[in-house]
Amino acid sequence: MEEKELVAVNEAEIAVHWQEEEYFHPSSQFVAQANMTDAAIFKRFSLDNFPECFKEYADLLSWKQYWHTTLDTSDAPCWKWFVGGKINASYNCIDRHLDAHKNKAAIIFVPEPEDEPHEVVSYQELYVRVNEFAALLQDFAGLKRGDRVTIHMPMATELPVTMLACARLGVIHSVVFGGFSGQACGERIADSGSRVLITMDGYYRSGKLLDHKEKADAAVAVALKEGQQVDKVLVWQRHRDKYASDTPMVDGRDYLVSDLLKQYRGRRIDAVALPAEDPLFLMYTSGTTGRPKGCQHSVGGYMAYVTGTSKYIQDIHPEDVYWCMADIGWITGHSYIVYGPLSLAATSVMYEGVPTYPDPGRAWRIAEQLDVNIFHTAPTTIRMLRKAGPDEPPKYNYHFKHMTTVGEPIEPEVWRWYHEVVGKGEAAIVDTWWQTETGGFLCSTIPALHPMKPGSAGPAVPGIHPIIYDEDGEVVPTGSGKAGNICIQNPWPGAFQTIWGDRQRYVDTYYARYCKDRNSKDWRDWPYFPGDAATEAKDGYFRILGRVDDVINVAGHRLGTKELESACLMVNEVAEASVVALADELRGRVPDIYVSLKPGHDTGRNIEEEVSKAIEIAIGKIARPRHVYIVPDMPKTRSGKIMRRVLSAISNGTDIGDVTTLANPEIVEDVRKLVQGE
Ligand code: PRX
Repeated sequence: MEEKELVAVNEAEIAVHWQEEEYFHPSSQFVAQANMTDAAIFKRFSLDNFPECFKEYADLLSWKQYWHTTLDTSDAPCWKWFVGGKINASYNCIDRHLDAHKNKAAIIFVPEPEDEPHEVVSYQELYVRVNEFAALLQDFAGLKRGDRVTIHMPMATELPVTMLACARLGVIHSVVFGGFSGQACGERIADSGSRVLITMDGYYRSGKLLDHKEKADAAVAVALKEGQQVDKVLVWQRHRDKYASDTPMVDGRDYLVSDLLKQYRGRRIDAVALPAEDPLFLMYTSGTTGRPKGCQHSVGGYMAYVTGTSKYIQDIHPEDVYWCMADIGWITGHSYIVYGPLSLAATSVMYEGVPTYPDPGRAWRIAEQLDVNIFHTAPTTIRMLRKAGPDEPPKYNYHFKHMTTVGEPIEPEVWRWYHEVVGKGEAAIVDTWWQTETGGFLCSTIPALHPMKPGSAGPAVPGIHPIIYDEDGEVVPTGSGKAGNICIQNPWPGAFQTIWGDRQRYVDTYYARYCKDRNSKDWRDWPYFPGDAATEAKDGYFRILGRVDDVINVAGHRLGTKELESACLMVNEVAEASVVALADELRGRVPDIYVSLKPGHDTGRNIEEEVSKAIEIAIGKIARPRHVYIVPDMPKTRSGKIMRRVLSAISNGTDIGDVTTLANPEIVEDVRKLVQGE
């Protein structure tokens, strides 16, 4: 009973339970041009046709060698897709488009300073830049198939160039979100075993040129402490003619890419034909322990899945101008800024900075200037844009045919503003539910086939077959509207292959919970458990309630409470720390922190500030807490475990419930007064 109470503090519990909403239908113009209007797709992708149905996605790619086995389950639950096939992601995103689209913009980079011109990179130019940089990686950095490289860069065209150059060689890239601290980057360098770090000197944010290269020194030092030597740090420059960082270049370790590249002018590197199940990249994400997990994605399965879902769910055509406002440092950017859209020969827009800089009309001005017709962002950004400029969109002459929301549940009221004001009532909206681990979408409407329902992600996408289980492993009846743990019954090509270097953790975290037979080689015995709670309404639409584990979704980004807590303990005086999720109007959730101090330490020093700072150093600014409360003691069970549920209720002003069984029930009222006042 006690154990159950412990895990009972999760997002799903504090999730709002919205009313069922009315449907909205896509316009006839949208339907007339849509890539997917054939309702038979669901029959084709039914479980009866699994796994062969995914041939339809794989056939959107150009294979160097066609595969012979669609799905190999012999090493369950590490699935192998399209076995026997050989393929290259860089070739699929660039080379194969050159005949028809050489002069088309592949990437349009919009700098934050409005007086700087946009950087338009055609497919031909992308081809040249990726080849030359791949030659540098191969010859200068000595990188080859299977090596790992950590990329810690802001939004800049050089980021996709770097990723695609790695992909061309079969080098496994691990992109760390630019906003993460040097320390967080260093831990990921060490875990992935990268001996090359690729970074950039600086970037603009809210009008300031930030020093980014300074994080590289901390990253290299932390990696070394964990046993990983970084031999080379390759530094791209924000301004080609000047170095934008205050930190010196370390002799024999740091190299300006612009200096080196000159030697590689005109070089071409054959895209390496890789086995379909070779890893394309690692993407670290937070879990329930302090150590982030390196989700390993394959080249063949991943590319097939993101290309298919970009075509049918994002409705991307080659003539579209597509703008996803996520950062490439997250999975959304990998799948739906770089690999999916470029595989379809679209024009993918990248924006450097803050969407409301220098004023709340900025995003819509960009859309107007570039004639963006597909727009993709997260609820937290939509809430921010709405708050900053609720009446801005109509002032600008742009027209979206399609809009996406991703990363967290969107409140129906915010959805309606997105639809009516941002989408001008014209755009079809998809609310896409998925994760770093899943490579691509799991639930979403198909925009021309299903009506939209605010607040619901929608039915499963083709080839995904969810099932909801209760805590005891019983199936929650479909369409019952009852909450439970949503799982996916079958594997799919976009799913990650394993956690880098930790297969056991992969099995334990995602498959052990509802596995029917640990020795089975049959995929039917291995439902995938994403760690979210959900309900399914009568119409088959899923509503995602939030995480059921110790993960907080802050502004659409996952943070592990354990990671935050161990950062707090870096402050010498802190004896214990506990992190809970505080509901927030703009960011969805923010961390609230409770710490108790070691005996003999008074609160004379500014411990609150030091704890905040420690989190910034360990993780980054995105993880900054709303409050740090210094409490005399934590509410604890008789076995000494901290009751996060009680702290969460205090932070959120919800019902604290029965605390009489605690070891120290009297502390609850003291903490409550401290937080809420008398
Ligand atoms: O809790 C779900 C929430 O975000 C988690 C995945 O986070 P991450 O791996 O960082 O990937 C974010 C971008 C895909 C999920 O476990 N989540 C994601 N999309 C939605 C969502 N919750 C509700 N609705 C969504 N559309």
